[in-house]
Amino acid sequence: MSERLKDKVALITGAAQGLGKEMARSMISEGAEVFISDINQDQLDETVTELSCSGISLDVTKSEDWEKAVAHIKDKSGSLNILVNNAGIGNGGDIESTDMDTWRLVHNVNLDSVFLGCKYSLPLMRDSGNGSIINISSMSGIVASHNTSAYNSSKAAVRHLSKSIALHCAKSTNLVRCNSIHPVFTRTAMVQSMIDAAPERDIEQKLIQQIPIRKLAEPIDIANAAIFLASDESSFITGTELLIDGGLSAT
Ligand code: NAI
Repeated sequence: MSERLKDKVALITGAAQGLGKEMARSMISEGAEVFISDINQDQLDETVTELSCSGISLDVTKSEDWEKAVAHIKDKSGSLNILVNNAGIGNGGDIESTDMDTWRLVHNVNLDSVFLGCKYSLPLMRDSGNGSIINISSMSGIVASHNTSAYNSSKAAVRHLSKSIALHCAKSTNLVRCNSIHPVFTRTAMVQSMIDAAPERDIEQKLIQQIPIRKLAEPIDIANAAIFLASDESSFITGTELLIDGGLSAT
């Protein structure tokens, strides 16, 4: 264990599984005190036990949940240095097949959550003396596809919102940074469900073919980037976007 995040307190949303869980595991091994949160209570309890960390029930779409979560962390740890807005949902559907309820749901979970998380966490992060907000967007927020209109839109908005927050923080106190991470297809339940939905179409190979280095990303690839942005090694980096795409954006 090294200690790149020693003395830092982190909150990661949607961390009962997938990328959030891997980021939690990595941050713990770098010395951070980590609070993981999720809407899926059973899975959250399992992961809390597995990682020996603290768990918070937090529906990222609810203001009152955010207020309670931040108050809980303040009470237990006194500070908050790292916020990872990771919770999100995938969605397939082009502009004509996406109904208004789906559009709203995807933006509520993927985008409104980032607004709420940053809004309610910032006062404690600022009082903590330093902070790094990491918003998990997607390559889909940079490169669009015809059949994920709501997802594309929500993730592109997360990219721009992150820059606005970074500028606000730089202007107001210069103590908190904010950046976005843009992973390409990564081997988690979200992608596995896409692959499993149509075995006859060999979706895994189709995804891999789009990535120049010819493999899916693994959760640890994203966690390694999050550690860098959370640590003081990136102290001059704010308002930027980190693409983890195996070269896709270079094509
Ligand atoms: P996942 O589906 O494995 O995990 C997402 C977690 O978020 C789940 O534990 C779920 O219970 C939780 N969640 C959903 N709605 C919530 C809510 N309202 N409040 C709190 N928690 C909620 O997904 P995965 O793959 O780990 O994705 C994590 C993030 O990374 C998402 O924002 C996703 O859009 C993004 N991403 C994932 C990629 C991938 O290929 N897996 C690629 C690019 C971005």
